[in-house]
Amino acid sequence: MLTRLEVRGFKNLLDVNVDLGPFTCIAGANGIGKSNVFDAIEFLSYLANDSLVEASQRVRGASGLRGGDPRDLFWDGYREHQRQIDLAVEMIVPAEVEDDLGAFAKATTTFLRYELSLGYSAPEGEGSVGRLTLLREELRHINRGDAARHLRFPHSVKNFRNAVVLGKRSGGAYLSTENRAGGTVINVHGDGGSFGKPQPRAVSRAGRTVLSTVTTNDYPTILAARREMQSWRRLALEPSALRAPDGFVDPRILSPSGQHLASTLYRIANEAGPGMEAPDSDAVYARVAGRLSDLAGIGAESISVEPDQVREVFTLFLQEKGNLRLPARALSEGTLRFLALCVLLEDPTFRGLICMEEPENGIHPANLPAILKLVEDLAVDVTESPDESNTFRQVIVNTHAPGVVQLCSPQDLLLAEARPYRTAEGVVTRALSLVPFKDSWRAVDGEPSFSEADVVAYLVAPAGAQLRLPWDLVV
Ligand SMILES: Nc1ncnc2c1ncn2[C@@H]1O[C@H](COP(=O)(O)OP(=O)(O)OP(=O)(O)O)[C@@H](O)[C@H]1O
Ligand SMILES: [Mg+2]
Repeated sequence: MLTRLEVRGFKNLLDVNVDLGPFTCIAGANGIGKSNVFDAIEFLSYLANDSLVEASQRVRGASGLRGGDPRDLFWDGYREHQRQIDLAVEMIVPAEVEDDLGAFAKATTTFLRYELSLGYSAPEGEGSVGRLTLLREELRHINRGDAARHLRFPHSVKNFRNAVVLGKRSGGAYLSTENRAGGTVINVHGDGGSFGKPQPRAVSRAGRTVLSTVTTNDYPTILAARREMQSWRRLALEPSALRAPDGFVDPRILSPSGQHLASTLYRIANEAGPGMEAPDSDAVYARVAGRLSDLAGIGAESISVEPDQVREVFTLFLQEKGNLRLPARALSEGTLRFLALCVLLEDPTFRGLICMEEPENGIHPANLPAILKLVEDLAVDVTESPDESNTFRQVIVNTHAPGVVQLCSPQDLLLAEARPYRTAEGVVTRALSLVPFKDSWRAVDGEPSFSEADVVAYLVAPAGAQLRLPWDLVV
């Protein structure tokens, strides 16, 4: 669970410091930088997995091909100036993880702060591109005694915090940066505290973060941090992907664009998750159909996934009230998106952080309450401890729909605005600011917050509206 994000120098995120709870909705105009927040989170996730080159190319807006230019990621990256990205996250990591060889590892502490600074090294010759360089990397624990100060969202201490913030450590950092005469090194410290010598890694030769090199249970807490960050992903459901056929050999996990819907539901309904009891298929299908019925206009009588042994494909069938029986690919775009979220809600293996782009896309305004309730329900209930029926999942959505802003609890809302910002070099520019509601847990004394009056811009009829509500006419 990502509980705090700090970003400096990435795209138009010049000074973003934001506390995150189980559910967050970022609302703002086009081109403000809402998706850039997701890019920053996704970039961190890629950096925990891939080389610096690969991670920079996988971020949205970079070319996606070898030879993509990492300057896309730096604020105003194509101007000659000191380019640096500073990222920091606070996160609750899983207490037990599996390493790349299938062995289990137990984190010493589960509440951690990770900091990373990246620079830019110009191309060495004509015809080549520059590259990202590693400047600094730190991983430290946050003491249990300090957890209350760091976890500001309302939650149950007994049921939630004490179940997920675990362990203690007397030693210092797990990863620390040291400037030595021969160059900067990143020290990797063992979980045993001050026992054992730290392993230094020279940053000048690092083509990747040190965190991403930890693949075995020799360093269990660093590995747990890596696993947590690897679980941060973006969901941007596309009807074409949701309609794609699903073979027996395809993965049984929903892809970020929504592929493998049928095989995912088949797995949830029929296969026991690790350490879990075999599911009751009929009950799973009934719950998905029941949830889908929240969407007005859809009378879902039942749902099931049928394996076709001859063609070796899975097909998701929907039986509508009135006896129409249709494969899911015949459903409308909005229905398919909604159905995909209903399926994810049932998936106990679908954990971690989900960044969802504009969940209201393709949904009729009358159905906004249903879709918003669904995405909120995907997130863990922090009044209870996470378990099989309360999956440890966190959700961040972005939106520009007035309806979503109106329906969302002000506690969960952040307004994305472009505010003037003066850089260290004295340049005045506009940078993304995520502003909380004044009376919410997110508000900080002395920092900007918004009031009811500030959201009026979201709620009024658009300029030039031809059909107006009666109360809009009373001026
Ligand atoms: N390297 C960069 N340096 C400075 N600003 C950048 C950089 N890259 C992108 N931006 C800014 O980010 C904006 C795009 O932000 P983003 O895609 O997050 O918008 P959004 O809020 O998601 O909008 P929409 O609602 O239309 O999806 C660009 O218009 C540009 O101003
Ligand atoms: Mg966007």
